[in-house]
Amino acid sequence: MTFLLKFLIMSVCAILTAFIWRDTFETESLRGARVLVTGASTGIGEQMAYYYARFGAQIIITARRENVLLQVAEKCLSMGAQKVLYISGDMAEQSDPARVVRFAVDKLGGLDYLVLNHIGSSPFAMWDGDVEHTRWLLQVNFLSYIQMTSAALPSLKQSGGSIIVVSSLLGKMSTPFAAPYTATKFALNGFFGTMYHELAMQRANVSLTICTLGLIDTESAMEKVRGYTNITAYPAAEAALQIIKAGALRQREVFYPWFTFYVTLIKDWFPFFTDLIIQNFYSYEP
Ligand SMILES: NC(=O)c1ccc[n+]([C@@H]2O[C@H](COP(=O)([O-])OP(=O)(O)OC[C@H]3O[C@@H](n4cnc5c(N)ncnc54)[C@H](OP(=O)(O)O)[C@@H]3O)[C@@H](O)[C@H]2O)c1
Ligand SMILES: *[C@@H]1O[C@H](CO)[C@@H](O)[C@H](O)[C@H]1NC(C)=O
Ligand SMILES: *[C@@H]1O[C@H](CO)[C@@H](O)[C@H](O)[C@H]1NC(C)=O
Repeated sequence: MTFLLKFLIMSVCAILTAFIWRDTFETESLRGARVLVTGASTGIGEQMAYYYARFGAQIIITARRENVLLQVAEKCLSMGAQKVLYISGDMAEQSDPARVVRFAVDKLGGLDYLVLNHIGSSPFAMWDGDVEHTRWLLQVNFLSYIQMTSAALPSLKQSGGSIIVVSSLLGKMSTPFAAPYTATKFALNGFFGTMYHELAMQRANVSLTICTLGLIDTESAMEKVRGYTNITAYPAAEAALQIIKAGALRQREVFYPWFTFYVTLIKDWFPFFTDLIIQNFYSYEP
């Protein structure tokens, strides 16, 4: 196919997606909604908790650090949340994912949104051969997501609820310095991609939204990429809002920032450019 034809097809896609994803979000739809947000002590998860609070939802937040969760919960209440509770849990532990979901379902009397967002900390560096770290990260970033989903599905089916999975551009393409993380995000995209079809085929009224994010300016991400790249990072609060919107509108996928959509389109069609650009974005002194 010629370059021009590919370009034309992409332009048509862009206009179509802009039409399909035009903004019809009403914050009112989240008033009283029963929401569980993971990884809500910092970063994008914390910002999501604040938006759900402003929109008047009932929120359960979770992460490991109880003292930080307490502060986020207090702020949520002051912002207008109908109800806020926190529960600490370590998603590397086998029993914690289901325990946290049971807590949420018990305290809220059901569940409308399961927002899976937490990640374990992983070095931003060339892979050093540490298989154990990758195994641990798979548990935290991937297996715990499906453990929580499994525990929450009966409630979500009952309420016509939603699962929101926070993934990454690195769930669709590989770049240097994050092999274990990239593996966990590809696993999420693969697993929940299948689940999307199966829910539809079962006519289960549970929506599933996968979020493809580019670089976001959270403290942990900024600390990692410093010195490796000068790629622009986008604001965590805006990422949080786009995720919540997409979930409320029951969209299959959301891209933030917007150009990540084009990156996923272009990467397979123009692989030579993609590799060139990727390797030029990062600096490395052997
Ligand atoms: N920031 C980016 O550039 C970027 C880009 C693409 C995608 N994303 C995705 O966006 C999501 C949020 O990223 P972020 O940058 O906001 O992350 P973050 O600021 O590092 O926050 C991670 C959250 O997970 C919790 N957590 C860490 N280890 C845990 C464990 N073992 N068990 C339970 N909770 C744990 C942390 O709280 P505790 O320490 O208290 O447990 C924290 O609340 C992730 O899914 C990430 O992959 C981020
Ligand atoms: C599915 O759930 C949504 C949100 O709870 C609800 O608005 C919709 O009416 C439900 N659809 C069916 C077919 O039950
Ligand atoms: C980022 O920008 C600074 C200043 O322009 C430059 O010195 C540095 O080499 C750049 N780093 C990378 C990884 O491109």
